[in-house]
Amino acid sequence: MTDPLLRWRAEFPILDTCTYLVSHSLGAMPRAARAQADAFLDAWASRGVRAWSEGWWETSRQTGDLLAPLLGVPAGTVTMVQNVSVAQSAIVSSLDFTGPRRRLVVAELDFPTNQYVFEGWRRHGAEVVYVPSPDGLTQPVEPWLSRIDERTALVCCSLVLFRSSAITDVRPIIERAHAVGARVVLDVYQATGTVPLDLTSLDVDFAVGGSVKWLCGGPGAGYLYARPDVAAAVVPAATGWAAHARPFAFETGALDPAEGEARFASGTPNVSAWMIAQAGYRIVNEVGVEAIRARSLRQTRRIMDHAAARGWRVRTPQDDAWRGGTVTLDVPDSARVAADLLARGVIIDHRPNAGIRMAPHFYTTDEEIDAALAVMDDLVHAS
Ligand SMILES: Cc1ncc(COP(=O)(O)O)c(C=O)c1O
Repeated sequence: MTDPLLRWRAEFPILDTCTYLVSHSLGAMPRAARAQADAFLDAWASRGVRAWSEGWWETSRQTGDLLAPLLGVPAGTVTMVQNVSVAQSAIVSSLDFTGPRRRLVVAELDFPTNQYVFEGWRRHGAEVVYVPSPDGLTQPVEPWLSRIDERTALVCCSLVLFRSSAITDVRPIIERAHAVGARVVLDVYQATGTVPLDLTSLDVDFAVGGSVKWLCGGPGAGYLYARPDVAAAVVPAATGWAAHARPFAFETGALDPAEGEARFASGTPNVSAWMIAQAGYRIVNEVGVEAIRARSLRQTRRIMDHAAARGWRVRTPQDDAWRGGTVTLDVPDSARVAADLLARGVIIDHRPNAGIRMAPHFYTTDEEIDAALAVMDDLVHAS
């Protein structure tokens, strides 16, 4: 094992038990997550209510600061929330749909939770505009540009699409939105931890994501980035006492919003989940997303070459520049092939209208990929 990334395998117990190729869905649990859970429980057990002032209340800021370098944003700009749905609700609730600027622009191929949240705002005057995809795999720039205008309040775009792992060229979309006075939220869930990000250079208004996938952080640790000038200018209506400038003054009436990222919080912080998530973030920071990306591109190419040699349909971009960390293989009878792979200890997943999603991460060996593909050869043959 000369590859330095493979040193990390020992930190992920599940790798000893199966071929784990599903980090686009649930990243493997790092051993250190258990120590983090223990630290949380020890504080609760031994310090009780004093734990709030001895660190728990600061958990959102601390956890967000571990994410900041992975997102390419300054410390103090990322707040922790439960998940992307909650983050989007906070962002949309900061907009005003009573005037002419009431459109929410989102891709048809976007992760449905974003669409569900936006649709809910129709009752408050929002209009939802869907951006079509020409091929069901990618979202080219032009259909976005023609749908973003002075009536647009918010553009929501996934940097990496969840079905095909296609990367979208978001810079011209952001520029167009800003030129007409609209804000942009990027959903970076399928990118963070496998695609290097520089959200500051993209000048995006907001970004949202979560931790269950490439960050190996587990559930309950969503995050929301707001550019500092945007955070200073907006106040979410979906809020709570943790977003108050002086939460422990328990002032009644309307919220006086905290400065900066904290105004996107809601109520009691999700301390245990965020502490657990820190274990994965530390490892991903240490391994480095550039190194993860280089390996990922090589190994996803290995999977695609195998598929091409067998004539399997690949529903993921061939071009390295526009492919995220997953390969979607649309083989005949793919739902059954997926079930049989799982039964044989090859852990992948299957999505309707897409196929089998297979993803190496920094802890995956070439031998594991080859073994998984050999099993797939048998199964596809048998169908
Ligand atoms: C792009 C994207 N956004 C959002 C989600 C999930 O949203 P939530 O954090 O609300 O569960 C997923 C996957 O689960 C996703 O792939």
